[in-house]
Amino acid sequence: MEQLTSKIMGTGSALPERVLKNIEIEKLVDTSDAWIQERTGIVERRIAKEKESTAELAAIAGKKALEDAKIPAENLDFILLATFTPSSFMPNDACLVQTALGASKAVCFDINAACSGFLFALQMAHAYICSGMARYILVIGAENISKVIDWNDRGTCILFGDGAGAVVLGVSDSCSHGILDFESGSDGSHGKVLSLDGYSESSHTKFLRMDGQEVFKFAVRKVPEMILALTKRNHLLLEEIDYYLLHQANKRILSSVAKRLSLSLDKFPMNLNYYGNTSAASIPILLDECHRSGIFLEGQKLILSGFGGGLTWGSCLLSW
Ligand code: UT7
Repeated sequence: MEQLTSKIMGTGSALPERVLKNIEIEKLVDTSDAWIQERTGIVERRIAKEKESTAELAAIAGKKALEDAKIPAENLDFILLATFTPSSFMPNDACLVQTALGASKAVCFDINAACSGFLFALQMAHAYICSGMARYILVIGAENISKVIDWNDRGTCILFGDGAGAVVLGVSDSCSHGILDFESGSDGSHGKVLSLDGYSESSHTKFLRMDGQEVFKFAVRKVPEMILALTKRNHLLLEEIDYYLLHQANKRILSSVAKRLSLSLDKFPMNLNYYGNTSAASIPILLDECHRSGIFLEGQKLILSGFGGGLTWGSCLLSW
């Protein structure tokens, strides 16, 4: 019997309307548009309105992904929502999305692995489908990071933005077409370099804190490691991968990864200049934009790579 695999059947994304440009941040902290662009590549980011919730953005992205996949919401078996900034802890945001979409038979829960969250959720959804436990799963990455930003901290407030991206995962008709492999891991011993402990009983800070340099070093080491492991295990050359969709954290991280792998930066699509770092949402937003722009051709190989708080990291190899 041929082994089952999963495939991405549709994509969607949602971004708040409000654009926050670097020059506006110059008024908040000691920084400059030139510094932000040079050190990160970011020009502007989207900021959710006070009452615009993570679940609302997630539901819009999810609805678009279902329309793209031509799958009715009632057919969904699961909704997995990756976020570290949920609208509420209970009910979870996936349940809020379920209600908004009318996905009455779906099992719904949130996953928190910060910027790797979407990749971990995708891996879980893939496992459900391969085991035969599900046929259709909506996987969403959605964040409202502006609500946990210390707008006096120039080390973080320049970087992040809000948004949501989603994919519908379904059963593939061929095991060589669709999701092929994952490489992922975690290292809790370095968790302090990127943290948000406002919800714990022992602390009253509710802001995201980051040791930017440590995260930077971790990313440029770990992402090439994952990519090399995936390509080697699947007997592929780095050049045979058509696109590398990396978590949109910093243009210099993407450039360093491309350089370490001796690859052209053209293979690394980027939208961080417009949206900044949207954590769990960044890869599915980028995937949706690339898909809708028509750059992916059937059978092309992609690698998606996320990395971030936890520390966590995850990559996926797929054939489009
Ligand atoms: O989603 C995953 C999580 N996050 C990331 O992947 C972020 C990874 N890290 C980064 O993107 C970068 O480390 C940052 C963008 C956060 C910082 O860039 P950097 O090149 O690592 O800057 P730095 O911390 O080494 O600081 C260099 C200089 C320092 O000044 P001195 O000591 O050289 O005089 C900083 O005080 O730049 C200064 N600086 C700034 N200047 C203007 C730091 N932040 C700013 C700022 N504006 N916003």
